[in-house]
Amino acid sequence: MPKTKIRGRILSGMRPTGKMHLGNYVGALENWVALQKEYENFHLIADYHALTTNLATSDIWQNTFEMVCDWLAVGIDPAHSPIFRQSRIKEHCELHLIFSMLITTARLERNPTLKEQVRDLNMENIVYGHLGYPVLQAADILLYKGDVVPVGEDQAPHVEITREIARRFNSQYSTVFPIPETKLTQFARLPGLDGNKMSKSLGNTILLSDSLNDIKSKLRKAITDPQKIRRGDPGHPEVCLVFTYHQKFSPAAIETISAGCSSGQLGCVECKERCAGAINTLTEPYRQRRNEFATHPDSVQDIIADGEKRARIVATATMQEVRAAMQLG
Ligand code: TRP
Repeated sequence: MPKTKIRGRILSGMRPTGKMHLGNYVGALENWVALQKEYENFHLIADYHALTTNLATSDIWQNTFEMVCDWLAVGIDPAHSPIFRQSRIKEHCELHLIFSMLITTARLERNPTLKEQVRDLNMENIVYGHLGYPVLQAADILLYKGDVVPVGEDQAPHVEITREIARRFNSQYSTVFPIPETKLTQFARLPGLDGNKMSKSLGNTILLSDSLNDIKSKLRKAITDPQKIRRGDPGHPEVCLVFTYHQKFSPAAIETISAGCSSGQLGCVECKERCAGAINTLTEPYRQRRNEFATHPDSVQDIIADGEKRARIVATATMQEVRAAMQLG
């Protein structure tokens, strides 16, 4: 890929959640792919972070594999952007430990993302590692001296904590770390089929790997404007979930769809069919490419091994600087 002038380094990451859905695409992947032309990208698979909410590890490799197939299918170019597992680079643990001394528990308890998770997942108690989730994330970002972190809005508080830790380290010891910036995606939160945030755990997703028929049948069940009961009834696009999808996936037709819905001429059934078609236009080429990776698991494994080799070089160098700054060994 011909690169223009590089503006800095991006560190992006995701927990290994398996096949990617449209929310992952719109909230992250689309942005990652676009940014790889301007930045040097590092793509982290946060498999240690996955343990904070689920201790079962038997699916981690399968979920990693499915996720990476989707990353590659949408256009992450592993020759330029290393893809690597957090758990394979031990420096994450070392830096996490040092960072855990630079932030108070009170600050971590105020983290709104944590509070939201505790509420959504109905957690009574959280493990120590979950409280420290943003500290590990700070280590992920700063180990690679990420300048920019592209995330959805739920992750912005973690980047804020990362900035605080970087400042604290730099002022306590010496300036080793950049102060990374958050780059929010435009559609930071794509609603799922039930109107909540699209998320695997809520079972309300459309997958990038779903066939046109899957997409159609999922959309048939999607909620629309409750006041538009039959074709002919005037609808209110601004409250309709399917219209939100059209805004993202059918931008050129948005005026016509809005007018058709409001006047009653466009019925929900037809509107949903169009929406499924628009989504499929985007995802069909991804599915074809995905298939090539999914049927060649060795090549995916090689890509990850190569990414880990490259990531390790950067991580080792940063830890040397950290140790020197702290006068540790
Ligand atoms: N916490 C992020 C999420 O759940 C995943 C993540 C881990 C991450 N380490 C990161 C994101 C570093 C950006 C940078 O989506």
